[in-house]
Amino acid sequence: MDTGKGGRKLVIVSGASRGIGFALAERLSNTYDVVGFARQEPKEPCNFQFVSGVDVTDKTAVKEFARKIDTANLWGVVACAGIASMNHFLSMPDATRDKIVDVNFHGVANVVEVLGKGLIKNKGGRIIVLSTIAVPLLLEGEAVYAASKSAAETYVKIIANELGEWGVTANLIRPGPTDTDLLAGLTDEQVDAIISKQTLKRKTTFDDLEGICRFFLSDEAALLTGQTLTLGLSG
Ligand SMILES: NC(=O)c1ccc[n+]([C@@H]2O[C@H](COP(=O)([O-])OP(=O)(O)OC[C@H]3O[C@@H](n4cnc5c(N)ncnc54)[C@H](OP(=O)(O)O)[C@@H]3O)[C@@H](O)[C@H]2O)c1
Repeated sequence: MDTGKGGRKLVIVSGASRGIGFALAERLSNTYDVVGFARQEPKEPCNFQFVSGVDVTDKTAVKEFARKIDTANLWGVVACAGIASMNHFLSMPDATRDKIVDVNFHGVANVVEVLGKGLIKNKGGRIIVLSTIAVPLLLEGEAVYAASKSAAETYVKIIANELGEWGVTANLIRPGPTDTDLLAGLTDEQVDAIISKQTLKRKTTFDDLEGICRFFLSDEAALLTGQTLTLGLSG
């Protein structure tokens, strides 16, 4: 993509107030202009531009956020915003179930649809969406979480086909357990049980995720779309 302005390419990261989104936004900011957003402010200082008060489940808020950003150089959209809750399906409160689906599916769809229009306008770019190894592992206790991510995965694979004519790619990353607040709800035993099901038996790190994200954003990944990279699992 020729940015036309001689500037750096712009990457927008949802869920950038903490965890994986914060780490990716911070690390990518030495190569790209990065705008991160979420509902709350990050607790640590950051090197990227950050916009708070944006709830991904509120499409109007996402549109309002997008209107305020100069998207002339927009190249990448990394959808990290997500929530999880481990419960046996019989004891999952309805409100929790609805919220998980709302953030992990509708939230992703809102971000991808609103910001994807900027990539189409620029006739090129990359969409990267965070899923989870809970999908292929069919983890007990994660029925709603994994189902919400499965919905997002199918959505991304279909829109990858629809975006091809503009040279925009859309791909998925499935991390294993990664040290963030999201994992804090699990005991060490629960985390170990997940890792024991992996082929490569260790946690996912921010370095792992940065490497894959940079690859999907690179020119070398121009012909990869609708792909899912699963961390720590064979096949
Ligand atoms: N950590 C893991 O072990 C792991 C494993 C596999 C997949 N993942 C996936 O990786 C992604 C990032 O997870 P994480 O571990 O970094 O989680 P995290 O530390 O809990 O951070 C979640 C991020 O999402 C944002 N967010 C949540 N609800 C939002 C909403 N309604 N609107 C806007 N932003 C919202 C949060 O910001 P605010 O609260 O400020 O809005 C925060 O920035 C998620 O999609 C998760 O499913 C994580």
